Amino acid sequence: MSTTESKPTANGTAIKPSHAGERGSFTKWVFRGIIVFAIAAFCSFLDTIKDRWYVLDPPFLHELARAAIDASPDSTQGMIDHIITNLTATYPSTQIALNPDTSEWVFNNAGGAMGAMYIIHASITEYLIIFGTPLGTEGHSGIHTADDYFHILKGEQWAFQPGALEMERYVPGDVHLMPRGVAKQYKMHKGCWAMEYARGWIPLMLPFGFADALSSTLDVPTLWKTIRITGREIIRNLLVGKI
Ligand SMILES: *[C@@H]1O[C@H](CO)[C@@H](O)[C@H](O)[C@H]1NC(C)=O
Repeated sequence: MSTTESKPTANGTAIKPSHAGERGSFTKWVFRGIIVFAIAAFCSFLDTIKDRWYVLDPPFLHELARAAIDASPDSTQGMIDHIITNLTATYPSTQIALNPDTSEWVFNNAGGAMGAMYIIHASITEYLIIFGTPLGTEGHSGIHTADDYFHILKGEQWAFQPGALEMERYVPGDVHLMPRGVAKQYKMHKGCWAMEYARGWIPLMLPFGFADALSSTLDVPTLWKTIRITGREIIRNLLVGKI
């Protein structure tokens, strides 16, 4: 028998339960409200200082993408090798962990688009990948908590937002910047490869990256490999103090 229930007295009238229970749950909700507010305040504070954890630099990466295209205009593999050789020579492994294994590819299904990616770098606030498909693909970009710099290496990327009646067109050497919060329909026309750099809150982007696998492809080996590589790279970076 619960202690808050009415207890019959000797003469049969019931004693009302005290208000202690109600007051207790009011205090509990005030406490929960304070916790939620504190977490929100902490997150918005982190958001104002996230820049200090960035290592990679958009103008440098744009220059690097263009140099990679110039160095081997007919070979996408040559461009990727150029990028990795340069990055590993430019950044000491004590500052940022990079994944130099250019054979480590996984499928990536997101927003209805499909391609393959090679994760060069992944940490809490940045990632750098090679993404593309020789077949071409098309889908929703997703709405992200990071700014996304999409450097076209080969082929063309087309994009548009509601309201535009003409498409945006990006060719090798171009960078397509998708600021945080923006969504577009995009198409990697007839096959396209890009070096994609995102800076912001990377873990919050992962649900979009996993949703198609969970709701559509059910490609568990790919999902597992993606989680394993991403987790491994984030941890390798944390171990050198790269957030
Ligand atoms: C890396 O690439 C940048 C941009 O092309 C270039 O300025 C720099 O000299 C390269 N660094 C190395 C170590 O190759």
